[in-house]
Amino acid sequence: MPDQVQEKKGLIRKFLDMPADSVPKTIFMAVAVCLVASMCVSAAAVALRPVQEVNKLKDKQVNILQVAGMYEPGVDVVEAFQVFEPHVLELSSGTFSDQFDATTFDDRAAASDPELSRALEDDPASIGRQSKFVTVYLLRDDAGEIERVILPLHGYGLWSTLYGFIALEANGNDIFGLQFYEHAETPGLGGEVDNPRWKALWSGKRLKDDDGNLAITVAKTAPDAGPDYHIDALAGATLTTVGIDNLVKFWMGEAGYEPFLQNLEAGVL
Ligand SMILES: Cc1cc2nc3c(=O)[nH]c(=O)nc-3n(C[C@H](O)[C@H](O)[C@H](O)COP(=O)(O)O)c2cc1C
Repeated sequence: MPDQVQEKKGLIRKFLDMPADSVPKTIFMAVAVCLVASMCVSAAAVALRPVQEVNKLKDKQVNILQVAGMYEPGVDVVEAFQVFEPHVLELSSGTFSDQFDATTFDDRAAASDPELSRALEDDPASIGRQSKFVTVYLLRDDAGEIERVILPLHGYGLWSTLYGFIALEANGNDIFGLQFYEHAETPGLGGEVDNPRWKALWSGKRLKDDDGNLAITVAKTAPDAGPDYHIDALAGATLTTVGIDNLVKFWMGEAGYEPFLQNLEAGVL
């Protein structure tokens, strides 16, 4: 036993006596630096995760406030957000579900949960699976009547899935606004979805024509229904434009919010 300790000490001594630029010492230092650095990065990632989650939630809340026309720079976001009434909506029936807590329900996690989602055969928005439940937000006026509804939507553009919200007036047909809060389209091309001038094009447009057909179109040219149903394409970004046209039609159609919008129009919510 003492011989083994002596042997170890001898090895350490030998290592320490090596010149600083020897191969074993260089490799040892490189490995040590990598280990320490990766431990620091991992520790920072774990420690900052809760802060990142809070900021992510805040960013989403800012976007909901913005799309609903309720955002003012400098406001306390958490307090301002209290004006909204969140509900978990069952898409197929278009009614609110009390199965989940709307303040904590995770739409994205639900979309990959086999119990809470369905695989899409007809998938124009290229999302693979669709959650059967989504969190929607109601804005009520002073008399308690629904003034606006804010609905999440998402779908694939050219490089990424775009996540956003559409705000509709209480009639469930007139658009108040649309904006995306997460995507990875190219800045200056597909990324122009974030341009305030393009976002402003949505305000006042309509989803369905007088015959009840879904007519909203994002394209270079207006649909037959006319300019009230037309949002101009993004310049130089036809593929992102097509993605947005598809995702809006999908979410506003039968597989998306149609049952809910019918209930809203009928005043049964
Ligand atoms: C580096 C690079 C990034 C691009 N990013 C986008 C994009 O984000 N969205 C998009 O629709 N097209 C993007 N395009 C262009 C498409 O490849 C395609 O040319 C374009 O959608 C055609 O649109 P246009 O008919 O309006 O010119 C990108 C092209 C390049 C070279």
